[in-house]
Amino acid sequence: MNNDIERVIYDQQEIDQRVSELAKQLNHDYAGKRDVVVVAVLTGAIMFTMDLYKRLDLYAHIDFVDVSSYQGGTSSTGSVKLLHDLKNDIKGKDVIVCEDIVDTGRTLKFLIDLLKDRGANSIKICSIFDKPAGRVVDVQADYVGFDVPNEFLVGYGLDYQGLYRNLPYIGVLKPSVYQKKHD
Ligand code: PRP
Ligand code: MN
Ligand code: MG
Repeated sequence: MNNDIERVIYDQQEIDQRVSELAKQLNHDYAGKRDVVVVAVLTGAIMFTMDLYKRLDLYAHIDFVDVSSYQGGTSSTGSVKLLHDLKNDIKGKDVIVCEDIVDTGRTLKFLIDLLKDRGANSIKICSIFDKPAGRVVDVQADYVGFDVPNEFLVGYGLDYQGLYRNLPYIGVLKPSVYQKKHD
């Protein structure tokens, strides 16, 4: 699997360090709050969310929402689907949405609208990666780990056809992998 990677963008140690910094920032910004809900956007955000969540010194619930826009391919389909809803009623809660990457911004826009609709007290977005060049919808994460180049990236939660999420780093997938013809 590692052989399918052209080059590493950020390695495990760099990511780990940055996640710690983000946690420190959140611990500062949410200190004293009692109604925090950390929302992981399945599936891509699970690695980052768990790495972040375990470093939070906060009274914070964890919840999961499954939203999908890529449906396994290399480019956004343009339509966002809610595949699995939250368990928590987030009315009046301070919600921190955790994402692996913000690309077109469609997933984020969909989620922000949904959470606003449900009466969250505050909504902040924390994404380990941001691909500003991919943006189609005008949304920004409030907390960003790293800006990444406009290439097809996998690892640390990001997938190609459901695979490569378990790489502990983020890297560029060799084009030969997704140009391969399967017959
Ligand atoms: C990916 C990624 C983000 C979203 C970002 O999820 O994990 O959630 O796309 O893209 P956008 O800014 O263009 O909306 P995907 O839809 O592939 O689902 P997954 O997390 O289950 O892989
Ligand atoms: Mn996702
Ligand atoms: Mg995906």
